[in-house]
Amino acid sequence: METKKMKSHASSPTQSLAPSVNNDIYDQLGERWYTAKDDPVALLRAEAQCRNPWVNQVIRSNFNHQNLQILDVGCGGGFLSNRLAREGYHVTGIDLSQESLEVARRYDATQSVRYLSADAYSLPLEDASFDVVCAMDFLEHIDDPKRAIHEMSRVLKPGGFFFFHTFNRNPIANFVVIRLVEWLVKNTPPQMHVSELFIKPKELEQFCESAQMKVAEMRGLRPNLLSRAALRSLWTGSIEEGFSFSFVKSLLISYCGYAKKYPRGK
Ligand SMILES: C[S@@+](CC[C@H](N)C(=O)[O-])C[C@H]1O[C@@H](n2cnc3c(N)ncnc32)[C@H](O)[C@@H]1O
Repeated sequence: METKKMKSHASSPTQSLAPSVNNDIYDQLGERWYTAKDDPVALLRAEAQCRNPWVNQVIRSNFNHQNLQILDVGCGGGFLSNRLAREGYHVTGIDLSQESLEVARRYDATQSVRYLSADAYSLPLEDASFDVVCAMDFLEHIDDPKRAIHEMSRVLKPGGFFFFHTFNRNPIANFVVIRLVEWLVKNTPPQMHVSELFIKPKELEQFCESAQMKVAEMRGLRPNLLSRAALRSLWTGSIEEGFSFSFVKSLLISYCGYAKKYPRGK
């Protein structure tokens, strides 16, 4: 296992002792964002298939207008942005990786998503300009998630929703998300994740509270490891068609959820 320190996209004023996560891998993916089976990006696609319909359903049942402004921070290849655009929402996707944004644009069937190259720490967006902000599989890719959450809350309207998906920090999550993936998926790059940057649910709640947001729901996500597709994947070293994730109560490994920004004046 390579342990060299990788360059991080994210610039943080906090001098972190944790090794940086390798975000350069997203610049190299190209079409593989949508097609690779022999790369952990296939796991990201499978996770998105589980959580994107849920995000959409929460939005639908809490907001009663189509004219919603949605921001997807660290949008990568646009799995969520493009899906929400198909629902008719006004979507902005932000990422530091220009190459990923190009892929996201190509796969945007609506050609309506506003894709911008920007840093989550300083969003080129007005205060209180979004109804919904999403950060999926993103907070564990930066050194200072609290600072990024404050910046995302700045652009969120009072009463708006902040969706997140990240990994818990404990030895079991470390084993499943880092070691098992390295072992299972052929082309797992070094330092795709570093366990020091995983976030405990309680910490995430505190970050949200310090940014004027209250967590309303958290739910766990876990791979269906006993499925046929998962067993085939074990054999081939690729993520086979049908590999899936399900929601579970336990937040032990990976979890998503949403927080509500306090109404004005609170
Ligand atoms: C694991 S990918 C997640 C992509 C997408 N959210 C998804 O769930 O499919 C993490 C993304 O965060 C982006 N990223 C890392 N640091 C960033 C920063 N400081 N500002 C904006 N994007 C960043 C990377 O380029 C990468 O596309």
